[in-house]
Amino acid sequence: MVSLRERMSVQEFDNQSEKQEFLRAMCNGEVEVPFENGGMGIGITEEDLVNAVGDAGGFGVYTGAMPAGRKIFKMDPEMQNAKNLEQMNHNEINRVAADFLKRYETRIRGINFMEILPSYAATRDAALESGAFDISLVGAGMDEKLPARMAEANAELKKKEPERELYYWPIVSSALAARAYYHRFAKRGKQPDTLRPPDGYYVELPKNPLGYTAGGHLGFPKNKPINPDDFNPEAILAGIRKFDETSPVVLAGGIAYRDQIKALLDMGYSGFSMGTRFLLTQESGMPDETLKSKYLNPNIGVVLDQNSPTGYYSSRLDVPYTERTTNTIRHAIKCCVDCVGDICEYRKNVSVSENTNYCIYRELIKALLGEEYGLFFSGGQIVVMRNDDVYQNEEGLYIPYVEETVGHTFTNDSPAALAS
Ligand SMILES: Cc1cc2nc3c(=O)[nH]c(=O)nc-3n(C[C@H](O)[C@H](O)[C@H](O)COP(=O)(O)O)c2cc1C
Repeated sequence: MVSLRERMSVQEFDNQSEKQEFLRAMCNGEVEVPFENGGMGIGITEEDLVNAVGDAGGFGVYTGAMPAGRKIFKMDPEMQNAKNLEQMNHNEINRVAADFLKRYETRIRGINFMEILPSYAATRDAALESGAFDISLVGAGMDEKLPARMAEANAELKKKEPERELYYWPIVSSALAARAYYHRFAKRGKQPDTLRPPDGYYVELPKNPLGYTAGGHLGFPKNKPINPDDFNPEAILAGIRKFDETSPVVLAGGIAYRDQIKALLDMGYSGFSMGTRFLLTQESGMPDETLKSKYLNPNIGVVLDQNSPTGYYSSRLDVPYTERTTNTIRHAIKCCVDCVGDICEYRKNVSVSENTNYCIYRELIKALLGEEYGLFFSGGQIVVMRNDDVYQNEEGLYIPYVEETVGHTFTNDSPAALAS
């Protein structure tokens, strides 16, 4: 009998034709989507994690959200600016793409983008041109021009490599958002040469029916209450199936156990993606010591707040980020790389003393560098997961490798399921 893990894994391909055949079948809904890691920026789902997920039989997704973030942060303040960031992002994409292709040419790979970032379009185009990423996942904002850009990118690619294809899956939290992408294609009379419909959908539930938040930014504007009833996974899937009967739909947000995977497959989802589960691994960009002292710390809860300068809610560990003082603000502004552009509520509010926004680029990188104060995005289910035996060994707290994490996830039910 085929195990759940085998069912949700992909084999190694011997050549490009085999890989392309699999991608086509997957995006036509003929085969299920291998287990996937959610893209985590800045700097969490980099080469090590993507390759380890691939080694374990999954679909690895690299983060295209400021790929040069870690590097530019370490430069002199004068060098930390938007122009250098754009060039460095471009170089970083080319570097990792060459490495991916050299090491694992026939592996399927994705890349995750945040549309609100001013660097998005340039980074995305570098990734499309690199040939190292089969599926672009675009969230945190909607890109109206993406259906046209993807049709154009495929037309360019076909001239050089007729066999290959570039796919895209919008990251959405509602059937309405998924439909908006599809309708750009359908409304213009379905012209696949100039407009490409989505090849799949990544549904991220801001809060799942158990009440757990997804990690990071939630696709839901601030100043509105978040009600799990608005994010019923069955209803979202049914809504998507009304206009797109076949493309794969992957579910994310609060998934970390076997029973949760089985339930979403029973609902009709084509696959699943996990963020926080993969964050808690040796191969993620987050230092092991930070994972132990913060993420596995039973005294630290999760907070859903409105302090992100992007205009979205975000789910993070309830620990302090850098205090807003005259000096810290001055330094952040001096080193501003325009990461989220004109919408930045930190930059707009530097002189408002009661404002609570943080400089997101600095705080995310500080977390990544193991500093005490920073921004530690996390899914809400961390408070349950941190008790799993995979995070313990005879010496105490333990950070598992991706392979151990995947093995654990596919063979263990959630404590809630075991109790019922
Ligand atoms: C530390 C962290 C960083 C994240 N960064 C991004 C990101 O840059 N872009 C994005 O689309 N999603 C991001 N996410 C969301 C994940 O890709 C994934 O969809 C989400 O974590 C799923 O929920 P889970 O953590 O409950 O598994 C991030 C999540 C975490 C935990």
